[in-house]
Amino acid sequence: MKTRITELFGIEHPLVLPGMTYISVPELVAAVCNAGGLGIMASGGMSAEQCRSSIRRIRELTDKPFGVGVSLIMPGAKECAEVALDAQVPVINFSLGKGDWIVQRAHAYGGKVIATVVTEKHARSAAKMGVDALLVTGHEAAAHGGEVTTLVLVPAIRDAVELPIIAAGGFAGGRGLVAALSLGADAVALGTRLAASRESPLHDNTKQMVVAKQVDETIYSKNFDGLPCRVMKTPAAERITAKPRGLFSAVWSALQVARELKTPIPRLLRDLFAQGLKATLQLAYFGAASLAIKRAIMFGDHEQGVQLIGQAQGLVRDVPSVAELFANVMSQAQSVRHDLALLAGKTARVDELV
Ligand SMILES: Cc1cc2nc3c(=O)[nH]c(=O)nc-3n(C[C@H](O)[C@H](O)[C@H](O)COP(=O)(O)O)c2cc1C
Repeated sequence: MKTRITELFGIEHPLVLPGMTYISVPELVAAVCNAGGLGIMASGGMSAEQCRSSIRRIRELTDKPFGVGVSLIMPGAKECAEVALDAQVPVINFSLGKGDWIVQRAHAYGGKVIATVVTEKHARSAAKMGVDALLVTGHEAAAHGGEVTTLVLVPAIRDAVELPIIAAGGFAGGRGLVAALSLGADAVALGTRLAASRESPLHDNTKQMVVAKQVDETIYSKNFDGLPCRVMKTPAAERITAKPRGLFSAVWSALQVARELKTPIPRLLRDLFAQGLKATLQLAYFGAASLAIKRAIMFGDHEQGVQLIGQAQGLVRDVPSVAELFANVMSQAQSVRHDLALLAGKTARVDELV
C-alpha cells in the first residue's frame, strides 16, 4: 500500500512502531523495519553511549530506514538526539519540547523529522518548525494520549495542517488502519499491539495479561506520573492512582531511579534546574513512575509494577511475530476496503485496491 508516509520514509506498509521505553529496543525496531514498517527506538533512560551502541545494533540487524525517539523534557534526551544526528539516523521523532534545531540538523544530511502532538495548536507550531510529519496521539493511547479521542483529533489536525499524519491511539488491525486513512491519516502507529508481539521484550506474564484484558480495563489518571496517563487496570494501578503522589516520595523514587540508571546526580540536577521548577517537579513524577513501569515490563510484576497500555489491549487476542501481524493487518485492510467498495456499488477488483 502506498501513502504519503510510505513514500516519505521509503517503507512498504503504513505501519509504525512508536517509541516505548524498555519496549522499542533495537531487536523490536529491526523486526518492524524488516517486516516493512518504520521502527522507532525509544531512547528514554539511555545515556549517550547506550544510545550510540543501540543505533549501531539496529544497523547490524537491518539495512532498512529506522527512527530514534527523544522526549526532549527528559534528562539526557538532548544528548541522545545529538548522538542520533551525528549518526545520521534516517528519522528522528521528538516530543515534549521544541525541536527546531533537530529539524535543521536532520535536514542538512537528508534525515526526516516527526513531531508527536496531541493538540491542533502543537500541530501548527510543529508545522512552522518545518517537521516532515506528525504523530498524532489520541485519548485511547497508552501513556500520554491527548484529551481528545483519535476519531476527532485526527480529522481536526488534518484540517489544520498539510503534513502527513501517523495516527496513534487505539489501532490494532486492518479495520483501524482503513479507518485512520479515511480520517485523513497516512499511517498508523501500533503501540499496545506491537508491545504484545513475539519479538517484544515485554515480560510473558504481561503479554498474557494484555491478551486477557478488555477494552475498558485501563485507567487514565494524572496521579501516576503527573500528566494524564493511561495504564492497565490492576489492583496495584488502582491503589497507586487513587490519590496524587506526595512530592517527597516522588523525589526520593526519582533519585533511586537515577542511581539505578547510573545517571550522575550532579548532571541530573543541572539538567533539571535548567528546565525550571515546574519541569523539575514533573520529572520527579516521571522518575518515580519509571520504577513501576520497569517492574511490569521487565519482570511481569503487577504487585508493585504498573503497565502503560492503551484501550486497544481489548483488541489484542494473540502474540504473533511482527511479520505475521503485519501480514494480517494488511490482509484485513484489503478485505475491508474491498467490502467498502462493494458497499459503494463498485465492482472493484481486489488487486486494484492494494
Ligand atoms: C508499553 C508501552 C510503553 C510506552 N512507553 C512510552 C514512552 O516511554 N514514551 C512515550 O512518549 N510513549 C510511550 N508509549 C506510548 C506510545 O508511544 C504510543 O503513543 C501509544 O502506544 C499509541 O497508542 P496505542 O497503544 O493505542 O497503540 C508507550 C506505550 C506502551 C504500550
